[in-house]
Amino acid sequence: MGNHDKIADTMEFPPATEQPNVFPLSWHSHTRKMEEIWTAAQNEVWDPAKLSWDTFDPSQYSWEEREAIAYWWTLLSVFDASAPPVFAEALIKTYEVHEEDPVRRCFFSVTRDEQNHEQLCGMAITRLLEHPDPLTYEPKTELGKKLQRNAKWLYYNGGRYWNGYKQAVPKYDLAVLFSSFLMGEIAAATIFHQMAANSSETVFQEAFSNVGRDEGRHMAICMTLMQRDYPKLKTDEKSIITKQIRAGYLFLSAVLFEPPADFWDLPSDFIEVQREAEAVAREAGFGIPDYETKKQNWKNAMLNLKGVLDKYDIPFPAIPEVGITGEEVRDVDMEDIIPVF
Ligand SMILES: [Fe+2]
Ligand SMILES: [Fe+2]
Repeated sequence: MGNHDKIADTMEFPPATEQPNVFPLSWHSHTRKMEEIWTAAQNEVWDPAKLSWDTFDPSQYSWEEREAIAYWWTLLSVFDASAPPVFAEALIKTYEVHEEDPVRRCFFSVTRDEQNHEQLCGMAITRLLEHPDPLTYEPKTELGKKLQRNAKWLYYNGGRYWNGYKQAVPKYDLAVLFSSFLMGEIAAATIFHQMAANSSETVFQEAFSNVGRDEGRHMAICMTLMQRDYPKLKTDEKSIITKQIRAGYLFLSAVLFEPPADFWDLPSDFIEVQREAEAVAREAGFGIPDYETKKQNWKNAMLNLKGVLDKYDIPFPAIPEVGITGEEVRDVDMEDIIPVF
């Protein structure tokens, strides 16, 4: 206020606030579906700290099993620990562009949910490793050492998109920004439900059903946004969406399938080490889906999304990795990623 000249005594009403300013002073509601999703989000709130952790005794597992299961949670964290700031940024955008009130609330709910998912990862890792940080933890087995190396490379790769994302947020509309969100949420919802069904620990069953239900709501938010905005897309926006779908595939494959080598910068034994850990974790009763199941999930998610995009004449990218033909998209880099979880 220091060098602001006071004007309130010189006119009856203040001049109009320059737009867009950061916040709307209005609560318009046009999209009934968003209201329904918000209501569901309020009713389904859960607290990771209140899961049945008291039934979980990590000392019943060998150190190799503990490190293998903690590795999977670490892999998930590479995505879920960056989700809160990603969605917080998107939430701010919903205010800047004066989105209708239920859309602002829905993005708030995604931010909160992803914060819960991040907390959950931390709670599982800390108990399994007796250390709150998988990168500074001292591995106790040979497999644990190799897994920590994997984790360091995942973390390095995951850190590369943030600047690109921050530049993309002001440039594109929400429905364009989150075009590959739907595919990620469909596959994530499926995987978490499978993991809930196939994990023997009560606390993990509870956790995965909650996370799967959250991802299902995120999927519905994305779908509703698309139905509202895709009929008015411009041609150049359509080609950005096609590229984003391919980018989303490459990025999310690391957690929902396996990381594609031309995109993720990883050591050559990475996948072998990861598969070894997954086998150990599965054997210990931790329900990570196998290669074929993951591949089928991923393919179904993409075919679902393709069905949506076809309706709006948006070309789908080729995903030869799972046998989907389409428009060829080349030269996607980490900096082009609009991360989705
Ligand atoms: Fe999540
Ligand atoms: Fe999500």
